[in-house]
Amino acid sequence: MTAAAAARALFGERFGREPVGTWSAPGRANLIGEHTDYNDGFVLPFAIEHRTHVALAPREDGVIRVASTFDDGVVELPLSALDPTFPARRDEVVEWARYPLGVAWALQRLTGRTDLAGVDLAFASDVPVGAGLSSSAAIEGATAAALAETWALDVDRVDLARAGRTAENEAVGAPTGIMDQMASMLGRADAAIFLDCRTLRTEVVELGFAPAGLELVVIDTGVKHSHATGGYGERRASCERGAALLGVPALRDVTPADLPRAHALMDDVTFRRVRHIVTENQRVLDTVRALREDGPTAIGDLLVASHASMRDDFEISVPELDTAVEASLAAGAVGARMTGGGFGGAAIALVARERVEELTDAVTSAFAASGFSAPTIFTVTPSSGAARDA
Ligand code: GLA
Repeated sequence: MTAAAAARALFGERFGREPVGTWSAPGRANLIGEHTDYNDGFVLPFAIEHRTHVALAPREDGVIRVASTFDDGVVELPLSALDPTFPARRDEVVEWARYPLGVAWALQRLTGRTDLAGVDLAFASDVPVGAGLSSSAAIEGATAAALAETWALDVDRVDLARAGRTAENEAVGAPTGIMDQMASMLGRADAAIFLDCRTLRTEVVELGFAPAGLELVVIDTGVKHSHATGGYGERRASCERGAALLGVPALRDVTPADLPRAHALMDDVTFRRVRHIVTENQRVLDTVRALREDGPTAIGDLLVASHASMRDDFEISVPELDTAVEASLAAGAVGARMTGGGFGGAAIALVARERVEELTDAVTSAFAASGFSAPTIFTVTPSSGAARDA
């Protein structure tokens, strides 16, 4: 059964009636620009074809009920109980339900509307969870799109991405940036979204993988990570410390030419965190230019340099991700890097179509030789963002 059909079937099973419509939103892979989003910098993600689907019908009684194929039962709350205290009380609901309820809360807060109809929502997804492909942005995006239309909210897609990030930061408690939500809301077929995270202005950048005979391969290491705990927040704090020491609002305001001065001002670890962000922002700009002027075969070195910077300066890679990248490059990939927040999750490799099988075998063998669990390897296609489907 497709995830769309599963969402409709679950709706009937848990709520005993028919939905009025279904919406969906995609996960994402990030081509380049990692941990730059919360530093007001540049990112270049694209939506993938894996999506979270939601079936919805309104209710008369101001109650919101959510159900998911991941979990038995139904989580139920009066909408009036969400605002303003939901984040403080998030521990009262199971973790997955904090995403949709958090979005409902964030949309109430964003619009100031208190007259909203109750809703029943049933979710099903084919976005791999914990793979660094933003299953969380997909559930947030599907919820935001469905609720905005049902509640006839006067909001645009950027507002919906903002509501998703607010839910993630405050209702889930993960101190992330806005890249994933923007990619999920604004994705386009065969293109990446070049996003300036300070202004939230976007440009569509054609990727041209298919005409160049290239495939984008995802290597899910199976190493699970959570951005609500530990390393992600520590990296963010280091970046904020670096910006404060340099006297700038965000590391976006630091250029490669400023790095010698930065080095003199801070300890070595903070400096290396700063250097990753500053050089990564430049690599995003260089990648956009290379894609536009020379096409996707020209971006390999930038992807590889990005990975090295995350491994050595930002220190968010893990041995499985390094192995995935090294084995991909040895098997002839144009470029490869870990994607997403790090500490586990997935790597991406850009490779000629006829070499996908060879790369898959090479990475699988390298994992086995290192004693790692077998990775899950599949190709993805840059795809369109959140939408109503039926
Ligand atoms: C996670 C976060 C994003 C971004 C990436 C790292 O995916 O959700 O906001 O910070 O990590 O680039």
